[in-house]
Amino acid sequence: MSLASMTAVMCSIIGYIGDKDVAQILIDGLERLEYRGYDSAGIAGLKGDSFTILKRLGRVKNLSDAVEQSMNFGNSGIGHTRWATHGGVSEKNAHPHVSFGGIFTLVHNGVVENYESIKTFLDERGYEFYSDTDTEVLVNLIEYHYRKEQDGGDKFLRSVQKALLHVRGTYGIAVLCKYNICEIVVARKSSPLLIGIGENEMFIASDACAIAAHTKNVVYLNDGELALLTKSDFSITTMKNEKIDAVRCKLDWRMEDVSLGEYEHFMLKEIYEQPLSLANAMRGRFSDDLSTAKFGGLQLSPRELRQIDRIVFCACGTAWHACLVAEYLIERYARIPVEVEYASEFRYRNAPLEKNTLVFIISQSGETLDSFAAMQEAKRKGYMTLAITNVIGSTIARESDGGIYQHSGPEIGVASTKAFTAQLCIVAMLALLLGRLRDMSFDEGTSFVQALVNLPQKISQVLDSGDRIRAIAEKYAHHEHMLFLGRQLMFPIALEGALKLKEISYIHSEGYPAAEMKHGPIALISDKCPCVFLATQSDILQKTISNIQEVRARGARVLVVSSEGNEIPRKCADDLIVIPDTHAALQPILTTIPLQLFAYYIAKARGCEIDKPRNLAKSVTVE
Ligand code: F6R
Repeated sequence: MSLASMTAVMCSIIGYIGDKDVAQILIDGLERLEYRGYDSAGIAGLKGDSFTILKRLGRVKNLSDAVEQSMNFGNSGIGHTRWATHGGVSEKNAHPHVSFGGIFTLVHNGVVENYESIKTFLDERGYEFYSDTDTEVLVNLIEYHYRKEQDGGDKFLRSVQKALLHVRGTYGIAVLCKYNICEIVVARKSSPLLIGIGENEMFIASDACAIAAHTKNVVYLNDGELALLTKSDFSITTMKNEKIDAVRCKLDWRMEDVSLGEYEHFMLKEIYEQPLSLANAMRGRFSDDLSTAKFGGLQLSPRELRQIDRIVFCACGTAWHACLVAEYLIERYARIPVEVEYASEFRYRNAPLEKNTLVFIISQSGETLDSFAAMQEAKRKGYMTLAITNVIGSTIARESDGGIYQHSGPEIGVASTKAFTAQLCIVAMLALLLGRLRDMSFDEGTSFVQALVNLPQKISQVLDSGDRIRAIAEKYAHHEHMLFLGRQLMFPIALEGALKLKEISYIHSEGYPAAEMKHGPIALISDKCPCVFLATQSDILQKTISNIQEVRARGARVLVVSSEGNEIPRKCADDLIVIPDTHAALQPILTTIPLQLFAYYIAKARGCEIDKPRNLAKSVTVE
């Protein structure tokens, strides 16, 4: 099996053991997890000593439609949705996979890096393979060890432990053994997995949203841990069978958070949740005199914060855009030099870091593999690493030295919206905190805090113009190319506007610093390539207007997003969206909102699958 045909997966896992019909529980869970990956889906149930397995290509709906009355999946089972990174999307590659002797079935999230040598080893011992996946190699390795182990005791668990000792790579797995109808074994390394504890029933999931409807009592597995579950109990061990004490947590999610309610798409719901998610990001985080911010989780005293000479921010995608905003804000208000790195570059770049450098990771999911690896690299070098994450108990949150939770609530839409604005809010508050520890005056601090307090109300005002933004968006929906342009703090927002549009509508769109356009991108300008200008900053308004005129002169249609009080000459804009004025540090947040709606309504007009755009998955847990 060559690397090209390996079927590494980035996907999701669900499992159940109890007294209920397992098929419905697995399928409900997979539907909630589908935003993580949706190339194929499958479930396996164990009844008596035989597995019932069903797999379908495409959406979970195809799987649930295929379940027939006559099928009996029993009361314990595992399920999976798959997002293929290498190799084909096919039913034979879909999970669950069954071992050659039929003793085990397994679902897997991750990559077995040394699958080739394991496969050769098993080939030589007569094992045959039906799929192109590394996962099938893993399930067979477990069977190989099972056959070698002494009978009795915890033979099932021991064979999984033994097999995993030989595996290089990443995994979250759930395994059924046909001789142990009352047990499921799970294990994790660099791939999230949690146990949900119910009344005489246990759940397994790679993401809490899959089981939040059933239980709020959970245990997050740590790297290198396995768990043996029965319907009434569970025990956690290391690969070497050392016992681990479980740390129980409570999920703070409500069912409304993971349901569509009155909305057609999660993306729209999450856009409209922003007044609340921003209020939640700020709650309890201002000093009593309302002149600065405070974050309990930073684990750094004011004195230590003052000693920071440099901050490096690392992230991927939308979260990386939040890092760019952090750079502008922290440098402007706290005068601390900031560098922004793509996590995927930083992890291999061996960047020289100065003494007193703080490394900040921003990640909504807290599970993005590149961001986690960047964090590990900084930790390895002995730097303090902090994280801004949304998902409590996520890998990055747990492995960082401290951090700030976003409290955005679950973000289900694949395109990040409310999590991004919460990240912007937190980095603005961080700039305020660090600024107040240095040169920012009390008066500047209180007006900054006041602007933050007023922000949710201003976001609601922007959201109230949703119908107008929809009408404008529909005029642009037929274009195949678009540029987003902004200066200074609006440059990262131009990048974010372009990313939102391209990922959900498949329109080719790019963001640039407005003045950079003359150095190349202007060659693209024509009546077929409209431009979206972000002209919300009054101090550089005239410069932005000059850039607008440059593209108008070349026939481009122009949409301008501006703030109240900014004079935009009529001839500059074919379409104009005016948002409320706010503190300069918070303009990125308000300016983002119309761009989210613009992208959403364009994608809707084009009939795109907004919550599950092609080729994408919510949390990227492979390289
Ligand atoms: C885009 C988007 C992605 C994520 C990126 C990082 O809308 O959602 O670009 O921002 O994959 O994900 P997290 O923040 O979970 O690390």
